[in-house]
Amino acid sequence: SPSAADRLSRLIRDIPDFPQPGVVFKDITPLLASPGGFAEAVNGMVEISPDDIDVVVGMEARGFIFGAPVALALGAGFVPVRKPGKLPGDTLAQSYDLEYGAETLTIHADAIADGARVLVVDDVLATGGTVGATAGLLKQLGAELVAVTVLMELTFLSGRDYLTAQGIDTVNALL
Ligand code: PRP
Ligand code: HPA
Repeated sequence: SPSAADRLSRLIRDIPDFPQPGVVFKDITPLLASPGGFAEAVNGMVEISPDDIDVVVGMEARGFIFGAPVALALGAGFVPVRKPGKLPGDTLAQSYDLEYGAETLTIHADAIADGARVLVVDDVLATGGTVGATAGLLKQLGAELVAVTVLMELTFLSGRDYLTAQGIDTVNALL
């Protein structure tokens, strides 16, 4: 019978030329739609994460889908990192490049207590721009980034090396 990783990989489909020519997009929506698949993905992400976490930070939008259940399973809080103009309170901002464009991420300036132990959760690690920008926000807040957990790493984009160069060396990828 197929391994858990095989079962999950079969629930992620390649969409050529989305959102722009030359990008082969990993579409996780079939995995999300599968009751067993979604549970297996979240459980697997929890298993590869540290368990002494105060706060899970998830990035809009797909980081919310995995970050929230991982936070519940770890007994941690959840803090959203959002695109500009969405958070109502005082925010900090960080700009970054991604595989198909440029973006800015924001976080509430008072979202995380000093020294809190933070796990960053997202669906896909590609270039590492999104996680790197989130780490920049956490540094501005004085929070401790303990680890990063993603469902899937696109190794050919070398996001892990990009993050290592920024001192982020605990990156856990389920697939
Ligand atoms: C995607 C994905 C990751 C990021 C990975 O999000 O969900 O957050 O890109 O790419 P990177 O490692 O090169 O930064 P996207 O910005 O497309 O936003 P979405 O979650 O709102 O779809
Ligand atoms: N799939 C999903 N998210 C992504 C991708 C991808 O191929 N590249 C960057 N973010």
